[in-house]
Amino acid sequence: MSFSTRILCIGAGHVGGPTMAVIADRCPHVRVTVTDINKQRIDAWNSNDLPIYEPGLDEVVKRARGRNLFFSTDVAAGIREADIVFVSVNTPTKAFGEGAGRAADLQYWEKTAREILAHSDRGKIVVEKSTLPVRTAAAMARILNSNGRGIRFQVLSNPEFLAEGTAMRDLEQPDRVLIGSEETPEGIAARRAVADLYATWVPRERVIESNVWSAELSKLTANAFLAQRLSSINAMSALCERTEADIDEVAYAIGTDSRIGPKFLKASVGFGGSCFKKDILNLVYIAQSYGLREVAEYWEAVVRMNEWQQARFVRTMLANMFNTVAGKRIAVLGFAFKADTGDTRESPAMTVTRALIAERARVVITDPKALANARVDLQDVGDAVEFDADPYRAAQGAHAIAVTTEWAVYKTLDYKRIYDAMEKPAFVFDGRNILDHRALFEIGFNVFPIGKTPLKHV
Ligand SMILES: NC(=O)c1ccc[n+]([C@@H]2O[C@H](COP(=O)([O-])OP(=O)(O)OC[C@H]3O[C@@H](n4cnc5c(N)ncnc54)[C@H](O)[C@@H]3O)[C@@H](O)[C@H]2O)c1
Repeated sequence: MSFSTRILCIGAGHVGGPTMAVIADRCPHVRVTVTDINKQRIDAWNSNDLPIYEPGLDEVVKRARGRNLFFSTDVAAGIREADIVFVSVNTPTKAFGEGAGRAADLQYWEKTAREILAHSDRGKIVVEKSTLPVRTAAAMARILNSNGRGIRFQVLSNPEFLAEGTAMRDLEQPDRVLIGSEETPEGIAARRAVADLYATWVPRERVIESNVWSAELSKLTANAFLAQRLSSINAMSALCERTEADIDEVAYAIGTDSRIGPKFLKASVGFGGSCFKKDILNLVYIAQSYGLREVAEYWEAVVRMNEWQQARFVRTMLANMFNTVAGKRIAVLGFAFKADTGDTRESPAMTVTRALIAERARVVITDPKALANARVDLQDVGDAVEFDADPYRAAQGAHAIAVTTEWAVYKTLDYKRIYDAMEKPAFVFDGRNILDHRALFEIGFNVFPIGKTPLKHV
């Protein structure tokens, strides 16, 4: 079959894999190849056991794979053939040198730019899919266009707004697709070509075009605003616990104001995930480097509030379990950073688990999809932690259970059965406010929600 366009995506992770699967599914006239330096990941994409869990992903991959969707480790061949190259490699927080702990580590990003240049014999459209500091496209264009061969590249920014756990819906029916380019005739033509691709399934009015800097900065801004809402409601949850106000009632009352809206007002043990913290810190670093100290401090507080909320959750556990958890078995329900994903990056459950281990608790972790990642994340703690896919076994003999991920399955467990198998007094710390607290209290549990008055027998 002949294809009208050939697309390559460098980076077969949580963004590259699902995004390209949807493009291939919706655009049978386009040939899509996804490459990665991680062979194990590519092998998994080519198997029946995909490397990431995302509801609905399996079906889409199965429909398109081998037809117009291919996964390969041959980055060079992929670059040679491609008309459009999406770059979706990881851009973690820099762990060393200038800007360590805040700035984005652009080493993977720059390597791909040099690789694209090395294997190209004609101009291409290069699309930033990764989240990058504002003005990265300028550096990318400088590397790509400083070749002595007269090859010209157009660098676009097309940040990805998908959320893990709902990635397929977010990709198939996005609120918007944003494409930024240089505002030259060549830049605008390139962004129109990518806009046309999305317009195959996304209504035109939802495809937003902008200058490249606005597109880059919009992604950082979106994550900063989303995280800020979570830190704001979490800050209020602490106040609710002191004043007998109820955070769900407060969230509902303010969420009905159309200027505020109901989304992202669920108080919890804190936000996690690979993006919010790193992108805000990146924004903080950018603001600092432009001498905007107050802007940097303003956004940094969103991250500080989140760290405080996680630490506060563990302090509540300790304070109510007679100031010691040493030697006590504690079941941690959920290790993924949110429900419907196996991703554990920056998961609040990790902070909670490590804090409990530091207090010498015997932690048992259970999770429907994230145990493999949890084992890797906690390999340094040895037998200070146990893993059990069965929540009932995890809770057996425990003094407390802590709900750290909002998996739907935890709402419908038989808590009477769990209570009967636990040490007494038995405690529930609901870090996601998903359980029926009154019913748990009536079973006999001491119940500690977030942002609500605890229900205690002791
Ligand atoms: N995860 C999310 O929810 C999400 C949402 C929107 C945007 N983003 C952004 O998208 C980017 C990717 O995130 P992710 O979660 O998919 O990361 P990821 O770690 O899951 O995947 C990145 C992949 O890139 C590969 N890679 C790195 N260098 C490479 C190279 N030189 N050649 C080929 N492959 C290479 C890695 O092996 C890895 O498999 C980040 O910038 C992130 O901020 C992530």
